[in-house]
Amino acid sequence: MTTDTSLAEICTVKREDIPKTVTEELSDTERDELKSRVKQLLKEQNAVMVAHYYTDPDLQLIADATVGYVSDSLDMARFGNEAEADTLVVCGVKFMGETAKILNPEKRVLMPDLNADCSLDIGCPIKEFSEFCDQHPDRTVVVYANTSAAVKARSDWVVTSGSALDVINHLHAKGEKFIWAPDKYLGQYIQEQTGADMLLWQGACVVHEEFKAIELAELIKQHPDAKVLVHPESPASVIELADVVSSTTGIIKAAVELDAKEFIVATDKGIFHKMKEAAPDKIFIEAPTSGKSATCVSCAHCPWMAMNTLRKLVECLETGSGEILIDPELGKRARLPIQRLLDFAREQKQQSLLSGDA
Ligand code: 13P
Ligand code: SF4
Repeated sequence: MTTDTSLAEICTVKREDIPKTVTEELSDTERDELKSRVKQLLKEQNAVMVAHYYTDPDLQLIADATVGYVSDSLDMARFGNEAEADTLVVCGVKFMGETAKILNPEKRVLMPDLNADCSLDIGCPIKEFSEFCDQHPDRTVVVYANTSAAVKARSDWVVTSGSALDVINHLHAKGEKFIWAPDKYLGQYIQEQTGADMLLWQGACVVHEEFKAIELAELIKQHPDAKVLVHPESPASVIELADVVSSTTGIIKAAVELDAKEFIVATDKGIFHKMKEAAPDKIFIEAPTSGKSATCVSCAHCPWMAMNTLRKLVECLETGSGEILIDPELGKRARLPIQRLLDFAREQKQQSLLSGDA
């Protein structure tokens, strides 16, 4: 890996490797039966569900109705770590299941579909990433949670979108320089916000990369009072138009707290379920992608998140399929940078509680 071109090639997920986003077709009766069955199986197996905001609303409803949890990737890790259960059922993408297993090696961790990947994870293979790190031994390696267990094990810190700015600010103040991977857009945003010296891996999220700045500017003209909420995995031209740039949890919080009636939202549309639940009197508008045209890769819904269906959820609980297994030695090494993040986030929370900011 010698040139920028070859780095870009490694990081780019081929279009044919991106699955089509599928929606599970179910009658109301089938849906109700499957939901009851999941609840029964969770109870029988002392299992809890941890789901991401981008998953199907039915899964989020089950997690909320049982002792489970729906959140962003930072809180999913935190909750999984604290939950008293024999089995964690992670509805999200593979790196979320792996993080749960790394933090809870004694628990069984199941996922409805182990093929639920992430373009950031795919675009950051351990061999090439490790070589890249070896070329810059003076730099602190900070990786986004959307990476494999092996990449995490090669890092000094794991961060999420909800914690990246604080962590980089903290380390930058100590004079550290960074390798950042895999998301180039999030890295660029953090670099601009903090002024830190960051070498950026060139990965991207195929969902957020699709948001279009020119069309968004047009939409803003049509809704001049709307606030624009953007996830930082989006391109810089889209971030520039945002009123709030934040993690998924931050986006929901902004919708509740901001004094506006309308919101244009640039993140996976799965989040609309929780946004409507949290702020039922507000109006949420999808930020433009290439719509349903031939060029639309995801149409603002992650094809891997969509693999978490009710039928597969029942199947994994009934048969034990979709179990996440991680080599214990690798798991131990990957745990250190994740634990660093969880400890850091806990201290930050305590400090903001003491200062009355929370
Ligand atoms: P959050 O941590 O903000 O939920 O982001 C995870 C993710 O994969 C967004 O695409
Ligand atoms: Fe990965 Fe993007 Fe899907 Fe999030 S939305 S899991 S970053 S591909």
